[in-house]
Amino acid sequence: MSMLASGRGAAVRIVDLSKIYETRESEDVQALDRIDLDIEPGSFVAVVGPSGCGKSTLLSLLASLIPPSTGRIFIDGQEIRRPHPKVGVVFQSDMLLYWRNVLDNILLPIEIKHFNRGHYKEKAATLLSQVGLDGFENKWPSELSGGMRQRVAICRALIQEPGLLLMDEPFGALDALTREQMIMDLQAMWSRVGNTVLFITHGIDEAVFLADRVIVMSPRPGRIDLDLAIEMPRPRQWTEVHESPKFRHYVRRIREIFEAKGVLVER
Ligand SMILES: Nc1ncnc2c1ncn2[C@@H]1O[C@H](COP(=O)(O)OP(=O)(O)OP(=O)(O)O)[C@@H](O)[C@H]1O
Ligand SMILES: [Mg+2]
Repeated sequence: MSMLASGRGAAVRIVDLSKIYETRESEDVQALDRIDLDIEPGSFVAVVGPSGCGKSTLLSLLASLIPPSTGRIFIDGQEIRRPHPKVGVVFQSDMLLYWRNVLDNILLPIEIKHFNRGHYKEKAATLLSQVGLDGFENKWPSELSGGMRQRVAICRALIQEPGLLLMDEPFGALDALTREQMIMDLQAMWSRVGNTVLFITHGIDEAVFLADRVIVMSPRPGRIDLDLAIEMPRPRQWTEVHESPKFRHYVRRIREIFEAKGVLVER
């Protein structure tokens, strides 16, 4: 049994959430408009939407990096007002500190909280081996490929066994093959850990492949246009799923929403 299986997934409740950015020079920007969303513990939810629709804003609100303009967010029934210890974040760029080796990057959240480093070293090693980076503790970020760096960023987000893992287009910058491998690894990791995942992407295929539920957002100001349950058995095999009529049906439904909203236009 993996030592990471202990973390139960967190429940998330978002009520009437809006975000208006107040800018000094120009008009205010409404990024999110009255979002309501309930996420079941341990589920994998993907959010897709056009560029600028407020996806990263939603993630920043959940991570308490910015305050909401209206509405409330609850994690396991508790309203959040500051970064929650149960929440781990993976950003689009890996955000590794170049002057720290792999181990010290993964242990950063532990140091910030003044937890015992020694206690978490073994866990860091386990995480590394689970993402295929056995023995990489002493490497420098500059010695790693983009995919490896993103794996280290995922380990750093998982070191505290977060009940909620927030991922903002984590594979956006990767080549197609590495991306495919990361998607498969993420699926395997999630089935081991059992945490709740909110995965932001503009890849419709990867959203459908990974998620229990795909939330489709409208162009700005972001609202929820479609909340689609993805009913396909797990573990999902890459080729089998991508060739299945069910997968293609889900992808088509999402594309139709984007076409109807003028997000995808034939030219
Ligand atoms: N700090 C900020 N100040 C003012 N406006 C902002 C700020 N951050 C984001 N915005 C605006 O809010 C809107 C939503 O931005 P956000 O980054 O959430 O979109 P996104 O869906 O993540 O886009 P992308 O897919 O391109 O990453 C955009 O119009 C953006 O310009
Ligand atoms: Mg974004």
